[in-house]
Amino acid sequence: MTGGQRVSSFLHPPCPLAEAARQGLRAGLEALAPIGRDPGTGGYWRFSWTPEDQRLRAWFAARAEASGMAHEQDGNGNLWAWWGDPAAGGAIATGSHLDSVPGGGPYDGPLGVVSGFVALDLLRARGVPPARPLAVVAWCEEEGGRFGVACLGSRLATGAIDPDQARALTDPGGLTLARAMREAGADPGRLGPDPERLGHLAAFVELHVEQGRGLGQAVGVGSAIWPHGRWRMGFQGTADHAGTTRLPDRHDPMLPLAQVVLATRSAAASHQALGTVGRVVVEPNATNGVAGKVSAWLDARAPDQGRLNATVEVIRQVASRAAAEHGVGLDFEQESFTPRVELDAGLRRRARQVLGGVPEVETGAGHDAAVLASALPTAMLFVRNPTGVSHSPAEAAGEDDCVAGVLALAGLLEDLSR
Ligand code: GLV
Ligand code: MN
Ligand code: MN
Repeated sequence: MTGGQRVSSFLHPPCPLAEAARQGLRAGLEALAPIGRDPGTGGYWRFSWTPEDQRLRAWFAARAEASGMAHEQDGNGNLWAWWGDPAAGGAIATGSHLDSVPGGGPYDGPLGVVSGFVALDLLRARGVPPARPLAVVAWCEEEGGRFGVACLGSRLATGAIDPDQARALTDPGGLTLARAMREAGADPGRLGPDPERLGHLAAFVELHVEQGRGLGQAVGVGSAIWPHGRWRMGFQGTADHAGTTRLPDRHDPMLPLAQVVLATRSAAASHQALGTVGRVVVEPNATNGVAGKVSAWLDARAPDQGRLNATVEVIRQVASRAAAEHGVGLDFEQESFTPRVELDAGLRRRARQVLGGVPEVETGAGHDAAVLASALPTAMLFVRNPTGVSHSPAEAAGEDDCVAGVLALAGLLEDLSR
């Protein structure tokens, strides 16, 4: 790939295609808006292999057809729409994910998929057929919102998770991924590494809403993704009567949990890391009963592996001491992990040339682009988030910024597809 010596003409105002970009974005985001939305909170509940997921998949298929693109679902549940023949090789893919965290915002994921379709429409409107195949992809279960492992579709495709392990993952109701897929009409026997498909790609570019307050202008280029992971902590105590069990006789798993939550905050603060306990399941969850069992999930991230390891180690030690002190059993196991990823230096340079003077942003949020970086060059574009809030209905992106994002994506794809 060569070129990228000048700022893309998509970015010279007034771009005659800006209005088409605005209309395309509006139509895509409006079509997705009702799917999985809680009318009370405005939060999204979009989990893989559910009826909401089927509606998202149907939208993807219809959107691809509206642009005259061939589309398919791969063995890992990822969705692909093609302009050109993938077998020609050297393809450039763009996209993101359509699933959400519990109670998520409207842009995390869908903005990248909708922007991908709109950007390709803008290239078509230019009437210049690309010299390489172009694809829009929606990765399956990026948030790990149902089966616990983030970026499951891209991890399976790259071989970063064993397909037997994936098939056995369970959702909060105890249903395995294998069973959920079968019930949704997909074949879990097809899960697994997909080197042939990934081998058709020369690069993957993911556009995403910025998820913090790290971007002071409409569009930025991703530089690196922090190492991050998830750990499940199981505290096994003894369920008992709240009115008759003497305090010294209790084996109450809520007590080590409380110590771990506080230790997470202080360990993260002292290592310039981030640590969160945002999900807890208490059994049997009775007001007048000492809890019998608590499962809690630790999410930890840091700019580098050393700080991340040190943070998690402190939390692990506190959990182990506190569990022993209260006569409570403990398991502490890693559910998923992504090392620090520097996004591809060549693509970043190219993006800065094509987009002209945009800032670089390092992020603590996880993305499929980080997982795929083990298999091919990947890049990210971020669109400013005026609230700085994400994984919440308060997540936001201004329409003008989203238009700037699509034009930037179209400019970069045009350059890369020469
Ligand atoms: C995904 O958005 C994550 O950072 O967990
Ligand atoms: Mn997310
Ligand atoms: Mn995301």
